[in-house]
Formats: sequence, C-alpha cells, structure tokens
Amino acid sequence: NNNNSSVSQKKTLKIVILGDSGVGKTSLMNRYSTGKFTGQYKATIGADFLVKDNVVVELYQQRTLVTLQIWDTAGQERFQSLGMGFYRGADACLLVYDVTDPHSLDNLDHWRKEFLSQVGNGLAGGSLGDASTQFPFVVLGNKIDKPQDRLVPREQAEEWCRMAASNTILGSQPLPHFETSAKTSESVDEAFQEVARRALYYE
Ligand code: GTP
Ligand code: MG
Repeated sequence: NNNNSSVSQKKTLKIVILGDSGVGKTSLMNRYSTGKFTGQYKATIGADFLVKDNVVVELYQQRTLVTLQIWDTAGQERFQSLGMGFYRGADACLLVYDVTDPHSLDNLDHWRKEFLSQVGNGLAGGSLGDASTQFPFVVLGNKIDKPQDRLVPREQAEEWCRMAASNTILGSQPLPHFETSAKTSESVDEAFQEVARRALYYE
C-alpha cells in the first residue's frame, strides 16, 4: 500500500548493542524503552533483551510498524563470550563508546569485527566477501552530559565512522553517528529511530 497515511504490517527487528563495559549500553536501552535512568552501575552478564513495541518507522514515505527486540550485551571481558551467541540473526547493531573515554572509541574496531564474525545472516564470511561490511551499524557517543570530562571530539568519532565505512561497497557513506546521553535522554530516541530505520532498510 503506497498511501502515505497507511501503516504496513508489523515486523520484529533484532538490534544488538555492543561496546566496552561502562559506556552506558544498559542505560541507553533502559532510557529508550522505559524512560528511566539510574546512576548505579550493575554489570550486564552475558546478554539480556527488552522489547519495544509499536515503533513507527518511516522509509520512502512508507510507514511500517515494528517491534524492536533490543539485545544488551556484556562489555566486561569475562562475560563477553556468553553474549556472542546472541549476535546471530541481528538486523542492526549499535556500537557505543563513551565520549569521556577515548579507549572505548578505539575498541569499536574490535566490537565491529567480533560482531561480523558471529552474526550469520548469510552475510559475514560468505561468498559476498566484503559485502559483510555493509551490515547496518549505528555509532553512539554516550555521556555528553559531562562536557567537562569529554576527551573524544565529535570530529574524531566522525573520522572513525568514515574509516569504518571506507572499505565497503557503499563506499563514501560514513556510518551514522549520534552523540547521546542516557542520563538526560538527549538524542536517545533519534538514535534508536535511526537504527530501526536502517534495520528495516537492510532487512
Ligand atoms: P556493561 O554492562 O559492563 O557492559 O556496562 P554498560 O555499557 O551497560 O554500562 P551501564 O549502562 O551499566 O552504565 C555504566 C555507568 O555509567 C553507570 O553508572 C551509569 O549510570 C553511567 N551512565 C550511563 N550512561 C550515562 C550517561 O549518559 N551519562 C552519565 N553521566 N552517566 C551515564
Ligand atoms: Mg550493561
């Protein structure tokens, strides 16, 4: 149905959130799906998921109602391998770093590779070869509510997003990048909206 005002049928999209321990993956998921934030840290062990229902995604002026199955994984090394089994079948991946921790941006290379080696979907390591790098990633720089502690300038992250996209068939299109705060909720909805849109587009 091409009618602008119509909403096409429901789909479930699987989103996986990756990044170093403490960057705020669990906080971002909770902020997005429950609207809440806590300053307390409780390490994620293995992986856990939440469902966000009735998300409207607009793509080419067509609205689709989707259910997001959001998988939050463990950043801590000792719990990481428990989470890897959950990458399989993902429709999109959120790569999260902390703007106050440059190391967490450097590590996105590692997370992206690890993800592509596990995701399946007939993409990674298949006959398409480099096409696996077309997988829809969205990059989030979290904790921008702490400007006095910021150590990663926006430009540095954007450079990484260009580099990560440069060896793909899509070529010049950098990975989408948002600066967010799970604490204040700044740009959190927008980031998840974009990841849902990408997931649907590449599905
Ligand atoms: P692992 O589960 O170990 O991988 O960590 P995680 O990435 O899930 O981090 P988590 O969401 O647990 O957040 C770690 C700490 O950072 C917690 O104390 C949060 O309250 C805090 N935090 C998360 N997001 C933000 C943010 O946007 N701003 C501020 N100021 N603190 C945040
Ligand atoms: Mg966590």
